[in-house]
Amino acid sequence: MKIFLVAGARPNFMKIAPIVRALKAQSDPQITQITRIEYKIVHTGQHYDYEMSQTFFDDLELPKPDFFLEAGSGSHAFQTAKVMVAFEKVCMAEKPDIVIVVGDVNSTLACSIVAKKLLIKVGHVEAGLRSFDLTMPEEINRIVTDSIADYFFVTEKSAVENLLKEGKSRDKIHFVGHVMIDNLFYQLDRLKNEDLSKFATYELKKSLEKYAFLTLHRPSNVDSRETLLGIVEALKEISTEIPVVFPIHPRTKKMLDAFDIKLDKGVTLLEPLGFRESLFLWKDAAMVMTDSGGLQEETTALGVPCLTLRENTERPVTVEIGTNTLAGNKRGDILDCYRQIVENGKQGTIPPKWDGKAAERIMDVLIAEKL
Ligand code: UD1
Repeated sequence: MKIFLVAGARPNFMKIAPIVRALKAQSDPQITQITRIEYKIVHTGQHYDYEMSQTFFDDLELPKPDFFLEAGSGSHAFQTAKVMVAFEKVCMAEKPDIVIVVGDVNSTLACSIVAKKLLIKVGHVEAGLRSFDLTMPEEINRIVTDSIADYFFVTEKSAVENLLKEGKSRDKIHFVGHVMIDNLFYQLDRLKNEDLSKFATYELKKSLEKYAFLTLHRPSNVDSRETLLGIVEALKEISTEIPVVFPIHPRTKKMLDAFDIKLDKGVTLLEPLGFRESLFLWKDAAMVMTDSGGLQEETTALGVPCLTLRENTERPVTVEIGTNTLAGNKRGDILDCYRQIVENGKQGTIPPKWDGKAAERIMDVLIAEKL
């Protein structure tokens, strides 16, 4: 069985890392194999800066990609098309049996369409999540990918229900848990045995008794001056009570400069961080504020209170039983939710099957399928 594993943008890298580990274990010549597995990593190049890409490969112990497609940035159509043209060539030359895509970025969509049109099976990891908000590019990517995928690897119950409602066959939906949580637990273990003083933010963390950790990059939050200004004003008030540590995404930096919006001095601005340095900071934060999908889930897995700066989430389990609260992106709403969390906190439990074994379960499914 020849597997292509696709990753393109920052949130993909932590999702493929555990799958690569499971594939490596499966391909070990020392073990008796019923199915011989060959796998290749395809990096589309959607993210390309050292801080957005290479540092994750190093941090997550990912091998060098077998194919690098150099798609780069651009409008949605431009970027998607560049990935498609380059990926088609590789698929035609290599003829994989299955293409595994993860998450909901433009590379996920582009590679699914290419594979499916070449009659190659598509497996979608993190399938079935829905925000029901079609103004979000990721929602379109999720819906289109799921409309043509053959295997659905699902992280939470809501996703199973969404896929069934969309007419998917139950036997193709596999509730395996979450590869991103596999990665989180694995990396947390590694951190325990390391000299943490090597991190550039070590002294900063030591100097702060209590802090909030912020990430912000969604177009719906940063591409409009009014919205971004509202968030910055809320942060200004919050940071008078608790210092805010903010590794900034390149898109957000660009927009703050373009709108000439300045952050308050209570907000410590950092370059984008590698996975492990980011984890080192947020795991001990009093609170995380974010518009990322992944961080909503990772904070739930570690029980850290999270304020999500969005009106909706495609990951409802994090709000229903996890530590996540939807705060919206308006100044007053963010401050109200912040107060609630400060006064009452939010206890959560870990969602079913978020136990570090999702990649193994995916492997079991693939092997049973005998592609
Ligand atoms: C993409 C994903 C989003 C994910 C996010 C994580 C889509 C539709 N969006 O959004 O789901 O949460 O990644 O980061 O796929 N840039 C750089 N260096 C890079 C990459 C990007 O400077 O290495 C800048 C460029 O100006 C670029 C902009 O960031 O135009 C946006 O990058 P892009 O890949 O289009 O989308 P993200 O906002 O990163």
